[in-house]
Amino acid sequence: MSTTTFRTAVVRDPRGPESVEIVDVSVREPGAGEVRVRIEAASVNPADVWVADGFFHSIGLVTQPEHTGLGWDFAGTVLSAGEGVDIAAGTRVAGIVPGFDRDFGSYAEEIVAPVAWVAVVPDGLDTAAATTVPLNALTADQLVGLLGEGDGRRLLVTGAAGAVGGFVVRLAQQRGWAVTGLARPSDEAFVRGLGAEFTADDTAGGWDAVADAAGLQENAAPLVRDGGLFVGVRPAVLPEAGPGVTVRAVSVEPDAARLAALLDATARGDLPTKVAAELPLDAVVEALQTVNKGGVRGRVVLRP
Ligand SMILES: NC(=O)c1ccc[n+]([C@@H]2O[C@H](COP(=O)([O-])OP(=O)(O)OC[C@H]3O[C@@H](n4cnc5c(N)ncnc54)[C@H](OP(=O)(O)O)[C@@H]3O)[C@@H](O)[C@H]2O)c1
Repeated sequence: MSTTTFRTAVVRDPRGPESVEIVDVSVREPGAGEVRVRIEAASVNPADVWVADGFFHSIGLVTQPEHTGLGWDFAGTVLSAGEGVDIAAGTRVAGIVPGFDRDFGSYAEEIVAPVAWVAVVPDGLDTAAATTVPLNALTADQLVGLLGEGDGRRLLVTGAAGAVGGFVVRLAQQRGWAVTGLARPSDEAFVRGLGAEFTADDTAGGWDAVADAAGLQENAAPLVRDGGLFVGVRPAVLPEAGPGVTVRAVSVEPDAARLAALLDATARGDLPTKVAAELPLDAVVEALQTVNKGGVRGRVVLRP
């Protein structure tokens, strides 16, 4: 690699994981309010597979003329900081690249990002674990914000053993919800370990609220009792629900202050994080294929 370019994974013609390629792009220095970060870990999320296979192109969320960048999460070390930024070079940070329609992402050796997208990683949290936090903990936090205070009411969290769902279980309990996690039978110990009740029955209804972290949509909305609340993770398509049911969906936004708090909570062990595998950037196709197959517990993390 020359010092004027860095490597990043992109998709030009999205036909699945195999269509992802690594290209060289130009280095740039950060402007005012930006940081340049050497990326040391970037998690592979299910939505990255749906960028690579063209799903988000097909619904009009991606219209890049040349290539589309991959990856929302990153963790690494600040190389330099622009004017007005009070994070010093050498500081470990984690961050989120928001949105879909972009020619850059976190599957890269480096990134220049607004400081509003990043937060400092506490000493007790290693870099691979830190990269599993931004997208999914912020999504969970903002989803629980839509739920509001539980006051002891009964909440079903679908996909409770997944990345978003595991964070929702813990954060919803902190807001006073009596949480039951819906997950596969083999995930029972993990869900109970989060302090929640467990069910593998995805047909039993009557819940005061459902947080649909598995994206079950029309299969989960009917599980809410009349007058209850459904909060989903697919803002583009809200499912039909029963009488008087309020239906909402989260669309994650960067929030540096909340991200800092979520990283601290993860470092303390209050929030779950799991790294399933670590792979070099050159193994990006294999990483996406693994996630595409499903059934992975914890995040596959690229180490550029
Ligand atoms: N709106 C936003 O801003 C936003 C942001 C981040 C993520 N998301 C979305 O959130 C969803 C979850 O993401 P994630 O990263 O948490 O995925 P994940 O880690 O794969 O978790 C999903 C979990 O749900 C489980 N599951 C699926 N169907 C189930 C069923 N019928 N019963 C029990 N468990 C079931 C899966 O088990 P198996 O693996 O065994 O199927 C998996 O454990 C995705 O759709 C993602 O795109 C949205």
